[in-house]
Amino acid sequence: QPPLRDLASARGIAVGTAVAAGPLRDNESYRDRLGAEFGSVTPEDALKWSAVEPARGQYDFTDADRIVDFAVQHGQAVRGHTLVWHLSLPEWLTGGGFGVTELRGILKTHIETVLTRYRGRIAVWDIANEVLAEDGTLRRGFWLDRLGPDYLAEAFRWARAADPQARLYLNEYGAEHAGAKADGLRALVRDLKAQGVPIDGVGFQTHVRSSTSLSELGDVMRHFAQLGVDVAITELDVRVPLPADAVSLGRQAEVYAHAARVCLSAPRCRSITVWGFTDAVSWIPDYYFGYGAATLLDATLAAKPAYHRLTCAL
Ligand code: XIL
Repeated sequence: QPPLRDLASARGIAVGTAVAAGPLRDNESYRDRLGAEFGSVTPEDALKWSAVEPARGQYDFTDADRIVDFAVQHGQAVRGHTLVWHLSLPEWLTGGGFGVTELRGILKTHIETVLTRYRGRIAVWDIANEVLAEDGTLRRGFWLDRLGPDYLAEAFRWARAADPQARLYLNEYGAEHAGAKADGLRALVRDLKAQGVPIDGVGFQTHVRSSTSLSELGDVMRHFAQLGVDVAITELDVRVPLPADAVSLGRQAEVYAHAARVCLSAPRCRSITVWGFTDAVSWIPDYYFGYGAATLLDATLAAKPAYHRLTCAL
């Protein structure tokens, strides 16, 4: 049975995973499986602002470098994640009392510093993450509140200037089905494109339950392709109520397979990234009380039904 990365590349897409810096450093079986199985990696937390610039102007790329070096050695693409987000911001930034001009400068410098460092090694970036509210309008949060709505267009422009080769994405959750958020996202992308903002793609996080239907995702993706941007599934995981049983794991497997089929048949869908590849390293139990077992491999790295169904779908 060929690994996921080979099955995917034969179909013209990449299958990737989020990577946690700790297990990558400490756990040989995690490393081996990661290198063998995936064609793309996304640092799960290592490129977030609080990790990269814990004090103003003092950058720490230790964890991000380890992940990117590993990817280069293993012929893996890297999705950079993420520059403009309302979460994972260090206290010096949120509590610093900066005025608009200074804060714009801080954001610009941060984007330039991080993109420039990884020029040629990180080819795709989630420039902005989770910028919309549930009703499809811009989310109230640190950047909008402090800088006003122009921060988004500016961030993409600064990113393009810092690395003209990189593919620049807007990443969002909850837009996998038709509704206000997907509509708002489409209007936003259309608007940004009309202003000449350099946006190349839209990422659908796709953190879902095993009872979720992804039946509308293909249509949603098609609408973005029509606007002239790439699309990707960027953070797929499929949580099940604990304790997991054969029925819920079977449903989970169908959702993983469905996601793969959607990406394979949607125009301009470049990649599917899972948000962790083993139940031993997954954010779900910490963030969704009563849920877990959300990934392709169990905590011993044995393949679950989801893994087998995904390979069949690719
Ligand atoms: C999560 C990570 O998986 C956790 O390790 C961290 O504690 C919080 O962030 N949407 C995103 C990701 O864009 O960055 C989030 O990652 C999950 C939700």
